[in-house]
Amino acid sequence: MNKVRLGIIGLGNMGSVHSANILAGKVPRLELAAIADADPAKHARVPQAKAFSSLEAMMSSGLVDAILIATPHYDHTTLGIQALKSGLHVMVEKPLSVHKADAQRLIAAYTDKKQVFAAMFNQRTDHYYQKIRQLVRDGELGEIRRVNWIITNWFRTEHYYASGSWRATWAGEGGGVLLNQCPHNLDLFQWMLGMPKRIRANCGFGKYHDIEVEDDVTAYMEFPNGATGVFITSTGEAPGTNRLEIAGELGRLVYEDDRIIFTRNKTPMTEFSRTVPEAFGRPESSIVEMPALDHGGQHNEILKNFTDAIIDGVPLVSPAVEGIHSVELANAMLMSGWTGETVELPIDAARYEALLKEKIAGSKMKKKKKVAVSGDDFTKSFGR
Ligand SMILES: NC(=O)c1ccc[n+]([C@@H]2O[C@H](COP(=O)([O-])OP(=O)(O)OC[C@H]3O[C@@H](n4cnc5c(N)ncnc54)[C@H](O)[C@@H]3O)[C@@H](O)[C@H]2O)c1
Repeated sequence: MNKVRLGIIGLGNMGSVHSANILAGKVPRLELAAIADADPAKHARVPQAKAFSSLEAMMSSGLVDAILIATPHYDHTTLGIQALKSGLHVMVEKPLSVHKADAQRLIAAYTDKKQVFAAMFNQRTDHYYQKIRQLVRDGELGEIRRVNWIITNWFRTEHYYASGSWRATWAGEGGGVLLNQCPHNLDLFQWMLGMPKRIRANCGFGKYHDIEVEDDVTAYMEFPNGATGVFITSTGEAPGTNRLEIAGELGRLVYEDDRIIFTRNKTPMTEFSRTVPEAFGRPESSIVEMPALDHGGQHNEILKNFTDAIIDGVPLVSPAVEGIHSVELANAMLMSGWTGETVELPIDAARYEALLKEKIAGSKMKKKKKVAVSGDDFTKSFGR
C-alpha cells in the first residue's frame, strides 16, 4: 500500500477543514476518496469526492481504507463501532465518546490490532506541550507537588451555541466546555501528568450563556503521590488565559504567552526545609527560559501520523484508546458538579451514564431555531 484512501463522515465545520487540507495535498499519501453526511446539502461542499448519505453505504462501496469520524460526539461511539467492525482503519474526532461507558463500548470493538485506531488530539503535536511533558517525565522538576491550569481562552458567543441544534444540550452534546473545547486540555493534562485519584468540581451550568450545560468549571484534584491540582476553564471569559504552572521538588515551570519559564531549585525543596537551619531561607534557584518553540503540525500532523501508521506501522501520536482518560476526567468533574460529591477515580461508568440520562430526561431546554452560520469561520476555533 502506498497511499491511504480516506472516507470522512460528517462534513460540518471540522470535516470540511479536514477535507480541504487533504485536497490541498497537506497530508502526504492520504487521499480523500469519499465523504458521507446525513444532510445531503453538505455533499456539495466536496464535489471532488464520491458522496454517500450513510457510513454503511460509504464502507460497502469499497472505495475507502480508512474512516475519519467528524460527526457530533454521541455518534463517535456508534459510528466508531460500526467502522471498527468493518475492518477499516479508524480516526475519531475528539472527544472519543461522551461518557466513559460509551468509550468502553467503543474500545471493546477494537479487537483486531492490525487496524489503526487513532483519535484527533491535535494539540499533542504542539512543541510547547511536548517539551513540558518531556521535562516532567525526565524528572527535571523532581516529584510533582502542585499543578494549576487556567485555560479560559475558549470564549464562545451565544451565536456559537445557537449554530447547531446538537450543541450545548445534554441530549445533543452531553456536556459543554468539558466535552467540546476541553477534551484537548484534559487529554494533555493526563498525558503530561497522569491521572488524579479524586476530583471535586464546581460547575456553572448556563452561567454565561442561554444553555443548560456547563460553561464554567473550577476543579480541584488530588494525585496518588499527594500532589494537588486545580483546573479552571470557561467559555464566558474574554480575553481569557492559558497559564499552566507546575511546581515540583526541583522547581517551578510556568507556561504562558508562548513562553516556558523554568525556575530550577539547586536543592529539592523538602530536603532544604528539613536540613537547613534557617527560618525563612529557601533553596537557591536559577531561571531558565526555554527556547521559543512552535505549535507543531496540529490536525495535519495527526492525519499524517495516522497515514504513516497504516502504511509503515509507525507508532501513533494519539491512540484512540487513550481518549478514555479525558472522557473520564470530564465525567468526573460533571459528576461532582451535579452531586456536590468528591468523586473517586476510576469513576463508576454505569452511575455516570444513569446520571446523564436523568439530565437528558429532565431537560427543559428548548433549543432555539438553528441560526445560519455560513459567514462564520469556525476554523478559528480549532487551533490552540
Ligand atoms: N479537533 C478539533 O480541533 C475539533 C474542532 C472542532 C470540532 N471537532 C469535533 O468534530 C466533531 C464535529 O464538530 P463540528 O463543529 O464539525 O459539527 P457540525 O455540526 O458543524 O458538523 C457535524 C456534521 O455531521 C453530520 N452528521 C451528524 N450526524 C451524522 C450521522 N449520524 N451520519 C452522518 N452525518 C452526520 C451533520 O449533518 C453535520 O454536517 C465534534 O465531535 C467536535 O468535537 C474537533
